[in-house]
Amino acid sequence: MKWIIEASKEDIEFARTEAEALLKCGVKVLQDNYLFPQTLPERRMEEFCRRAAYSRKVSRILFVCYEKETEKHIKGYDWDRVYGKSFAVRIFRGDKAKEKDFADLIWDRLRKPRVDLTSPTTQFEFYSLRKYVIACLHFRDIRNDFASRRPHKRPGFSPISMQPKLARALVNISGADKKARILDPFCGTGGILIEAGLMGIRAEGSDIDEDMLSKARQNLKHYHLSIPTKKQDACTIKGRCFAIVTDPPYGKNTRKGDIPALYSKFLINARKVTNTIVICMPSFLSIMPVIRKSGWKVKQRFRFFVQNNFYRYVLVLKK
Ligand SMILES: C[S@@+](CC[C@H](N)C(=O)[O-])C[C@H]1O[C@@H](n2cnc3c(N)ncnc32)[C@H](O)[C@@H]1O
Repeated sequence: MKWIIEASKEDIEFARTEAEALLKCGVKVLQDNYLFPQTLPERRMEEFCRRAAYSRKVSRILFVCYEKETEKHIKGYDWDRVYGKSFAVRIFRGDKAKEKDFADLIWDRLRKPRVDLTSPTTQFEFYSLRKYVIACLHFRDIRNDFASRRPHKRPGFSPISMQPKLARALVNISGADKKARILDPFCGTGGILIEAGLMGIRAEGSDIDEDMLSKARQNLKHYHLSIPTKKQDACTIKGRCFAIVTDPPYGKNTRKGDIPALYSKFLINARKVTNTIVICMPSFLSIMPVIRKSGWKVKQRFRFFVQNNFYRYVLVLKK
């Protein structure tokens, strides 16, 4: 089946990368925030909709035609094949005034037509992209209840906690699936662990600060997640995992000179633990030389605006 994904607009390349990592296939940007993955079965899309943080909606493509031939194609399509009990027509990126005309044409083609504009069982969608029209069947709205999981709504709060949307995307772009195990060795209050746990990914966390760990445990309990956490220096972690997904300290509360040394020690040791690190860091730290010296390659880099002149990088590092 062919699909169209409506990505959220903050960072299309980040959304595309997340989609590729989750779907494990190539994903192109069709236009603006519309993504086009390779042909995929429905169950893969179900899983995508359950996990994606930077996408909003998925629709199944029924046919593609030249814009000027849309009506001819609507008349020629067997709509009963995909029709439920009622329908609505929505036009995205096109002439909304034509919704009624298209609905009339589809009505004529259905055996038992019924229009329901508030909660149709079948929503037919039309997207005008360049000179083409893509006719689709609405599949899923992706609803992530990020607002209810914001750091200040959790029992163990810290101002340095990561927002759930970004935390979820970091786990996703690591490529971890349910068989994989990820590690957050600077877990703080557990923002990354919570999102991994809610997606059913095996995760473990550690932190050097007992107070942070106690907050992380309160938060994990709050979401009924049993994720192991322990006190440990991130520079001495052992064992093997699929990926490290983490958000190390920024240096605001640490002596600044210590931060590059901490990153260096952590990155050198982490080579024994994994082949992939997804790491978040503020743009004011010049960590790139440290990364290169520690033997990691920057596979991807994304920059997010936080506030004022403050940006944050998300880096995907590979050995
Ligand atoms: C930016 S915070 C992580 C925030 C976390 N993502 C959250 O959602 O709460 C960085 C964390 O690294 C921890 N940390 C600092 N130095 C460490 C070290 N050497 N080993 C392990 N953890 C360390 C701090 O205690 C802090 O909790």
